[in-house]
Amino acid sequence: MKKYFLIGFLLLVASCSGVTGTGNPTPIVNRPAASSPSDETGDVQSTAPNAGRATATLQPASGSTVEGQLEFIEQGGVVTIRGTIRNLTPGPHAFHIHETGDCSAPDASSAGPHFNPTAMPHGDPAHEAHHAGDFGNITADERGEALVNATTTSITLLAGPASVIGRAVIVHENVDDLVSQPAGNAGARIACGVIKW
Ligand code: CU
Ligand code: ZN
Repeated sequence: MKKYFLIGFLLLVASCSGVTGTGNPTPIVNRPAASSPSDETGDVQSTAPNAGRATATLQPASGSTVEGQLEFIEQGGVVTIRGTIRNLTPGPHAFHIHETGDCSAPDASSAGPHFNPTAMPHGDPAHEAHHAGDFGNITADERGEALVNATTTSITLLAGPASVIGRAVIVHENVDDLVSQPAGNAGARIACGVIKW
């Protein structure tokens, strides 16, 4: 009789240490983002109630060759935007989220005004009064490349009044002065991309 108990115990240990985790009661938390998407169902990373990931591919507008790729990650009420924009003139360029996810017009005017769900004036994202879609400026280096790395609580990816899914990222020809209404006097729209899951 004791022998059977021992075998049962060893089987339990073996199943708990198995790679597949079958029967393993330990919840998997803080799983690295690099974990394989082919992992068994039950992966909490992609289905956590307050997390999500979206992307935007920026394409040229107004006769420019500006393009880029952005990633949006929401976690715990904070959205991080990361990526690279290329073929800019060196220096600062206004960077906004506009209301309408439509980049079809040659000058990207189809993207509409700045995303502004809280009815604020245009402004500096570091100050209280600004459009949710205001992100100030990105700065291109001598090669025309700008790295984007911003965090904000002004927007969400998850459904709600501040969700930017289906809206447009716009990069402008000129600098956003963070003061002029309604859009910082930033000039032509030189790249446009729709934010998608
Ligand atoms: Cu803009
Ligand atoms: Zn604005």
